[in-house]
Amino acid sequence: MPARSGNGRVAVQSWQKRKLFTSMGLLGKVRRRINRLLNASPQNGPVINIRKRKEGLWQSSESVDRYVAATSQPTVAMSVEEDFAEAWAQGWTLDVGAGTGRFSRRVAAQGHPVVAVDISAAMLEAGLKIASRPYFCNVCSAYNLPAPDECFDTVISFWFLLHFGEWPNLLREMARVLKPGGRLVVEVMNRAHLDAGIAIRPDFPMAINSPKPDSFTAWVSPDEARAVLEPLGLFSKQVVQYDLFTENAIAQARLGAGYNSWIQEIQQLMKDPDCRQYWRRFEQLILPKLPESTGRRLILCFEKGLNQSSQFSYPSPPPPVGETPTIRRSLELFRAAYGDILPATLLSEMA
Ligand SMILES: C[S@@+](CC[C@H](N)C(=O)[O-])C[C@H]1O[C@@H](n2cnc3c(N)ncnc32)[C@H](O)[C@@H]1O
Repeated sequence: MPARSGNGRVAVQSWQKRKLFTSMGLLGKVRRRINRLLNASPQNGPVINIRKRKEGLWQSSESVDRYVAATSQPTVAMSVEEDFAEAWAQGWTLDVGAGTGRFSRRVAAQGHPVVAVDISAAMLEAGLKIASRPYFCNVCSAYNLPAPDECFDTVISFWFLLHFGEWPNLLREMARVLKPGGRLVVEVMNRAHLDAGIAIRPDFPMAINSPKPDSFTAWVSPDEARAVLEPLGLFSKQVVQYDLFTENAIAQARLGAGYNSWIQEIQQLMKDPDCRQYWRRFEQLILPKLPESTGRRLILCFEKGLNQSSQFSYPSPPPPVGETPTIRRSLELFRAAYGDILPATLLSEMA
């Protein structure tokens, strides 16, 4: 039975419970009851505590193993974000929702002291095991960081804010612990990308924007983030859009039923290192010249205080690669989703 929370509403107690029920193959009646709870909304029934569910997702050793396996397959998006985080982190760095330390490890390897915080001890432990240089870890909630005001030079956070509808509170807490002159480098899901998909097909299939708790996604625009941070004295310095091929709302809306085979073929092509190198270069050199809705994710970089002269050097893009049949096919697939958004002349900049 779901637990009753303090305010009298009913909250689903744990996602593990659902998993246990479903994997034990208990009667359809139980499954239907759980599904009803999962699909409930505040208007028509119980409230599901998304925050608790999201906090629980990475606690077990098997989910940690799954996460480590998934993130050990290189992708273009991961390469973009890891390179930018490494380029922009400086001094004492706090990695919020650090997980297995994809970013903590890179920044620590640059010689910066890093504190990785996460609600899951299992995730942090898995990261420390494979780190080439040690970093500090703290099991705690990002909603209430156990750190005094203004003590870090950089705060980074990736693949984290998207899980929480209360992302503005999390941003405020990150801003609190940042020193004057410090940098906040966070990844968010690009609201303009989702909106572009919905504009193409107003009856958009919601797989990429599912209301179900485990896949709840917060979509954020740079203006929304600015509205939260500017009153706290943080100013936007850089916005980088990236991530064409992890999932893609525009392709999903445009291709409809053809989307699954599109994304599967793209992901197959991306196993080829040359193809990844081509698109890593593309995402850094060409994507900034395409509409801001093109990429699915954004890196937002803010600075505490107004400083006209601060420098944000970009990571070097990888060198050009000659076009191969695999790369040509991936370009065809890109065009199938994005139509004529990509002028042929722009591609000459890839050479
Ligand atoms: C998708 S993982 C991202 C890990 C890492 N940043 C990366 O990009 O690989 C999300 C992480 O957020 C952590 N998390 C969830 N709720 C949290 C909370 N309230 N406070 C701190 N960490 C939390 C999870 O345990 C998990 O490790």
